[in-house]
Amino acid sequence: MKFFLDTASLKDISWAAQAGLIDGVTTNPSLLAKQAGDLDPKDVLKEICSLVEGPVSAEVVALDTDGMLREGGELAKIADNIVVKIPMTEAGMVAVRRLAVDGIKTNVTLCFSSVQCLIAAKAGASYVSPFIGRLDEVDQEGMDVIREARVIFDNYQIATQILAASIRHPRHVVEAAMIGADVATLPPDILKKLLLHPLTDRGLEQFLADWNNRVARAKAPV
Ligand code: E4P
Repeated sequence: MKFFLDTASLKDISWAAQAGLIDGVTTNPSLLAKQAGDLDPKDVLKEICSLVEGPVSAEVVALDTDGMLREGGELAKIADNIVVKIPMTEAGMVAVRRLAVDGIKTNVTLCFSSVQCLIAAKAGASYVSPFIGRLDEVDQEGMDVIREARVIFDNYQIATQILAASIRHPRHVVEAAMIGADVATLPPDILKKLLLHPLTDRGLEQFLADWNNRVARAKAPV
């Protein structure tokens, strides 16, 4: 399973890339607005693209097809690894098709049902992003969307990649991986949680205590 980091934080991306833990990055207007502050968001995206070799999703904010195409074209010029993120709307699907014809990869965002994923794939999306956590929060089983989309895409050999988004905890990652989502995009705090286990901490503490006792014994006068 590929991991993307769901953030525009250069510090977090840099750490995860150096550790070889991530295959790409996803941003959205909220994340980019938070990181960019007074900077030009395009400069921030350029920097992100230089930190990771894999795909970096950057989202359009226009709601009409022409606006999406204009913004998508500008975003795609930032770096070769930009993937243009397009919302799951009627105008968005036309933009996805046109960008695909021009050889520009897209990630259809804000998908909340498997049939939306199918529609996005038919339009020519490279990635579809079902939002698991946001569905769970309105008392729907977010993971069902991943499960259904996986079966549908496999039934028809659809190459569009399923990108599990809006991940809230490590169990989401495990379940998405078991179902066969192609990618999970993780907020930095969730990626860091994947490293943790209380027995790891307890074991390390014990190893160091035993070692320090031995050192103390060796130094003690006979
Ligand atoms: C995906 O690409 C989105 O940026 C993201 O996963 C949204 O998740 P949220 O529900 O935490 O905002």
